[in-house]
Amino acid sequence: MEVPELLQVVVLAAMALGGSWATLPDHHTLPDHHTLPDHRLSSEAGAIFVHELERELFQEAFVNGHEGDDATPITFQAHLQDHPDLPRWLRYVQRDPLQPGYLYGCPTASELGTHGIEVLAYNRHTYETVAQLLLLTIIPAPDGEPPYQGEFLVGNRNVEEMLPEEVQEMFLQATAGVWDQDDLRVINITSALDRGGRVPLPIEGRKEGVYVKVGSHGAFSPCLASATSPQSRLRCSLGQQPLADCYDSFAPPFSIQWCNLTLLQLRPGPTAPGPVWGSGVLEDAGDFQPPTEATPRDLLPGFLVTLLVPLLVALLLCLLLGYLMCCRREGVQKRNLETSDLQLFHHTTIRGDTEELRHMAGSRDVPRPLSTLPMFNVRTGQRLSPLPAAREGARDGARAPLLPP
Ligand SMILES: *[C@@H]1O[C@H](CO)[C@@H](O)[C@H](O)[C@H]1NC(C)=O
Ligand SMILES: *[C@@H]1O[C@H](CO)[C@@H](O)[C@H](O)[C@H]1NC(C)=O
Repeated sequence: MEVPELLQVVVLAAMALGGSWATLPDHHTLPDHHTLPDHRLSSEAGAIFVHELERELFQEAFVNGHEGDDATPITFQAHLQDHPDLPRWLRYVQRDPLQPGYLYGCPTASELGTHGIEVLAYNRHTYETVAQLLLLTIIPAPDGEPPYQGEFLVGNRNVEEMLPEEVQEMFLQATAGVWDQDDLRVINITSALDRGGRVPLPIEGRKEGVYVKVGSHGAFSPCLASATSPQSRLRCSLGQQPLADCYDSFAPPFSIQWCNLTLLQLRPGPTAPGPVWGSGVLEDAGDFQPPTEATPRDLLPGFLVTLLVPLLVALLLCLLLGYLMCCRREGVQKRNLETSDLQLFHHTTIRGDTEELRHMAGSRDVPRPLSTLPMFNVRTGQRLSPLPAAREGARDGARAPLLPP
């Protein structure tokens, strides 16, 4: 074989091998081929954060399966970079593999900074995976946490149906109908399932329910206040609708369960300053000074008090008990005085007889009276041997009465 020909074969073989590798679904061997560019996001602390994991974006990144096939089932898995799970405040939801996934949650002021969230999309047909890194920066809220917060339970929605921005807008407009403030904003969205709600029956139209928390700097309207008044709570506990003197501007798209409305008014005072983010290096404060040694303290009085007081109390109790048991004893005499003479006599005779019988039984070790023995002739006083061979007057002896008449 000539040298150029040999080279051609080697190149062809390498290409074939490379091609078959590229179609391997295992992403660990070739991570770069299946990674989307990083995506930067930012969110305010104390406001709802929603990120939609778009199916189309990931579908195009799969090597196979984007040739006009719209219905590729894709599932997602998200976790904090270098950690096994999502941060506590962030939740993930996807109804089924043909729907987009959502990451949502409400970061608090302690989550300020940048978080790397790794998202892995799986093609459920080919088991290909595509990874993407979301760089999420939480910035402090410019005007602080809204002090007035109302939480509504929307009964006719699942959580992912509440997350798209236009639905949130619609909800805020509806809220403005009962709570007339112009700075209303959605703070938190939670599935009722995360609050102890139950999974609905698989019947058309049954939904899990979603809690939506809305905040404002302006006070609650009288209408909202009356829906949580004690009278309304009472009506709710009786299974009736609460008193509300305003028009339910949510219906029909959102059916609010007014009995589950919660109004929260945060302490108005100055908001506590959050942690100050320094350079990350501790400033130089000189050498470490260990605290001076504690001076020895006199522990004897304490010890004595601890030991002596209980001992003294125990002693007093002992004395009291002893006096009661020994000196205040009301014994046999009192009993005898209280019992009628006849009864006492009866009792003593019975006891006396018993004693006597006992006494007699005690001295039973004398030989048995002869009259109780067999083969004894009362008249002659003769004892017969029970053995027949040695017997002479056996008949006589046998007829003689055993006891004297
Ligand atoms: C948002 O709701 C979730 C679930 O109920 C809760 O764990 C979280 O503390 C809430 N966040 C805020 C800032 O209220
Ligand atoms: C709504 O509130 C009632 C009590 O007022 C409670 O029993 C019920 O579980 C709540 N509903 C949900 C979905 O949390």
